[in-house]
Amino acid sequence: MSTTEETVWFITGTSRGIGLEMTRQLLRTPANTVIAACRNPSKADALRSLANGKLHVVALDVVDRESVRKCAEEVTALVGDKGIDYLVNNAGVASGGMDTAYDMDLDVLQQTFQTNVMGPAYVTQCLIPLVEKSRKKVVLNISSALGSNALNIPGAGHLFASYSISKAAMNMLTTKQARGNKKVIVVCMEPGWLKTDLGGPHAALEVSEGVTGVLKVITAVTPENSGQFIDYKGDHLQW
Ligand SMILES: NC(=O)c1ccc[n+]([C@@H]2O[C@H](COP(=O)([O-])OP(=O)(O)OC[C@H]3O[C@@H](n4cnc5c(N)ncnc54)[C@H](OP(=O)(O)O)[C@@H]3O)[C@@H](O)[C@H]2O)c1
Repeated sequence: MSTTEETVWFITGTSRGIGLEMTRQLLRTPANTVIAACRNPSKADALRSLANGKLHVVALDVVDRESVRKCAEEVTALVGDKGIDYLVNNAGVASGGMDTAYDMDLDVLQQTFQTNVMGPAYVTQCLIPLVEKSRKKVVLNISSALGSNALNIPGAGHLFASYSISKAAMNMLTTKQARGNKKVIVVCMEPGWLKTDLGGPHAALEVSEGVTGVLKVITAVTPENSGQFIDYKGDHLQW
């Protein structure tokens, strides 16, 4: 990561987990400005404790379109002509737990879809002019290997249905975003199975390890990577 060129990051879901750790690691590089979006800034103590002059905490609920529009206005005023170098759609839910196609609660499926698919879709629609203005022009959708039809993750098989369906849709959203705008680089990424509230205590990796990988991979992408499904090690995943 360059230590000299100013780089603006916008990340959703930064109150905890991957978004919080991403913010923490990025702020170690003085050239990074991080606009950290979360639902309740006044309650995001861990996030606000990272304040170092390069952190801007903004309110954003990705399922509330008015909130997304307001946030986009605030961010537009904040970044000016610099734009957003990296737009990271990280906020996500897995409220259905280990549900199956036959027992999943359709209200939960709908809420999961609103957060994991409609949220990133609308956030990107509202912020893409700022991404286009920037130097790096990257959109990162934090997806999951569970959204792959081909991989059939051992132990997950028929489970995590509502979550997996939403991440498969996020992957297709990435394809459409990449094909629909050649001025920007859009990728979806599997961050690793990480110890967060969502990943659970038995996850394979510490959140810091996955996030270090995600940042290494995303800061090295080129236009040839647009539309790809990659993991935190830089390996390409089957759809
Ligand atoms: N951990 C893993 O093993 C793993 C693996 C693959 C993919 N992922 C993906 O990585 C992303 C982050 O997951 P995580 O493990 O960090 O989960 P987490 O610890 O549960 O954190 C989820 C974050 O998303 C935010 N969020 C949820 N709904 C939101 C909404 N409507 N608007 C704004 N923010 C919202 C939460 O905010 P509040 O604090 O306000 O609830 C929280 O900051 C998700 O997209 C997840 O699917 C995680």
